[in-house]
Amino acid sequence: MEDVKTFMTKDHKRLNKSLMSLGETPSEKNIDNLRLNLKNHFEVEEKFIFKAFITANEIYDIFKLIDEHKEMISLVDEIKKELQSNPSEKIKELKKINSAHIKYEDEFLYPKLENILANNHKKELLSEIKKNRKR
Ligand SMILES: [Fe+2]
Ligand SMILES: [Fe+2]
Repeated sequence: MEDVKTFMTKDHKRLNKSLMSLGETPSEKNIDNLRLNLKNHFEVEEKFIFKAFITANEIYDIFKLIDEHKEMISLVDEIKKELQSNPSEKIKELKKINSAHIKYEDEFLYPKLENILANNHKKELLSEIKKNRKR
């Protein structure tokens, strides 16, 4: 059965795929699309998942993860500005931050969700997440 962890991990794979396929000189459309998808994923994560951890007083590295979300969006904006010159260094940096970030969430944070979420909240939360995660 699909749960929050499975859904979010799948979403990571999808984001990672579009990030990895960027190449050295992406089009503006690709960057806009990536930004939209990253932003939406981060918003869902902060609004539903991180909030659940904070409410349960299980803070871990939540605030560091939120900072990294901001950092990744700024990098995407900088990449867009540099499209005519050479964004490859920034793209490399974005990929690096993103893969460590995803790894931490998939391997450390999301597995803890089972214990954080009350049983009766799990289904509700998944449907809220799906509603908010536009594709
Ligand atoms: Fe995240
Ligand atoms: Fe994530």
